[in-house]
This record gives sequence, structure tokens and C-alpha cells, in this order.
Amino acid sequence: MSCFLDVAEKAAKEAGKIVINHIHEKHIVENKAGFDFVTEIDKLSEKFIHDSISSAYPDHSFFCEEQMSSGTIDEDSYLKSLKGYTWIVDALDGTTNFIRGIPQFAISIALIFNCEIIVGVVYDPNRDELFSAEKGKGAFLNGQQIFVSEKTFLEDTILSLGFPASDLYKRADIMKKLTRISMKIGSLRVFNCASLLLCYVSCGRTDWTFEEGIHLWDMAAGILLVKEAGGTVLNIDGTPFSIFSKSNLAGNKEIIKKVIELL
Ligand code: IPD
Repeated sequence: MSCFLDVAEKAAKEAGKIVINHIHEKHIVENKAGFDFVTEIDKLSEKFIHDSISSAYPDHSFFCEEQMSSGTIDEDSYLKSLKGYTWIVDALDGTTNFIRGIPQFAISIALIFNCEIIVGVVYDPNRDELFSAEKGKGAFLNGQQIFVSEKTFLEDTILSLGFPASDLYKRADIMKKLTRISMKIGSLRVFNCASLLLCYVSCGRTDWTFEEGIHLWDMAAGILLVKEAGGTVLNIDGTPFSIFSKSNLAGNKEIIKKVIELL
């Protein structure tokens, strides 16, 4: 295991403990936009992850959800301005679930270099599940190698997705897509935690996922998990995924090919 992965895994697991230890408290909830919230625990977890990774790698950069949440910095220009190794952090992905006590939230940490995701770690503190991947080395869940599902018929698949927190047009667009495919798929799960949505695809619990209007910190680690588990990741419109993407469509190759034809 590389030092990068080791540092990311330790930070994610420790941050997970912080998050879980505070779950039953009354939270300070701020509304970022629409149905998008942040709590003092998101900030606490982010500070912990930032401090622990930067003590190991003082010259690395960071691109974190709450660091960017003032809305005054242009996300893409900032990301472009970062050189060398950059850590992409969502210290509490699935904040609304956390606030409501729905056990579907995670800590997501990825490392990018030259616009490529090279390390991805997602820790689910509710189930003590650690998903991890390094570019070219496979994907793992608690140390066991994982793979995307092998389903080839859409009617046998479970689609899982997230419902946009604030963009009403994207909500309407997703409803149109669902109408188009609802008669063709096996089943549907909606749980707003982008990192876990992708991890569940990476271990074959679900077969494919898509989300619109999300950010690199929500999905970077999960994207690498899906790729390293043998899956495909594109933008929702079928174009190639990049670190500047704001959507994803991920699953096993055969299914994603069929979905692109349908959507
Ligand atoms: C949210 C989740 C969700 C997505 C929302 C994100 P957060 O992340 O990833 O799946 O639909 O748009 O905001 O804010 O809870 O870290």
C-alpha cells in the first residue's frame, strides 16, 4: 500500500469517528442553497482531515467542500490554479442524511495529480466500511477486492441515484429521464450520498448510478473506485468524465452502453 493511501485511510477513519461521536447532538445547521446544508460537524471533520494530511504532506494542495462553500471563489478556476498533488475532500458527504439521522453518509478523500485521480477512499462510519482504490491497483472494501456487477439486461439492474439539492431544473430533467427508463429497469434506490452511490456500484450492490449538479469533492474518490472495480464512468450526457465534470453516469460497461442509447 502506498503512503498516500495509508494517510488517506487513517484520516477518513478518524474523521468517521468524529462524525459518529456527534451524531446525536443538536447541530448548528446552515443553509447553503435550496436543500443543501452544512453543519459544524462538516467543518470539524474537514479541519481534522486537512490538518492530518497536511502534517504528512505540507506542500500538497487541498480542494475541500467547505473551503469552497463561501461561493466567492470560482470552483473550476481555483481547481485549475492548483499545481502538483491536490487532495479532494468531502469531510461529510450526505449532510442532510446526517442531520436527519439517516445512516447514509460518508467521508470521501481523493488525491489527484496532473488532472488524474490516483487515490480514492470512502469511509462509511455507520457500517465500518472502508472503500479504497489506487490507480491501476484495483478496488477494495475492507481489504477484499471488489468488482462491479456483471448484469447485462437492464431489467435485471438496480439503478441508484441522488436527487439534486437545489437546482429545480436538474430535478425536472432527472424526472424526465426516470420516466423514460422506469419501465425498463429492475428497481430504483434514491439515497443522496454521491460517494456511497458510486461505492455501491463498485462492489455490485447496485448496477448503475447517475447524478447531476454535483461537485468533484462529492464524487472523486467514488469515481476511482468504480473504474478500478472494472466499471465505466462518463458524464450524464455520455461525454468523457473529467475532474471538471458536474455529473456522473457510472456502472458496468455493458449496462452503461445500453443506458446511453436509451437516454
Ligand atoms: C451531497 C450529496 C448528494 C448530492 C448533493 C450533495 P453533501 O453532498 O453528495 O448525493 O445529491 O448535491 O450536495 O453536501 O452532503 O456533502
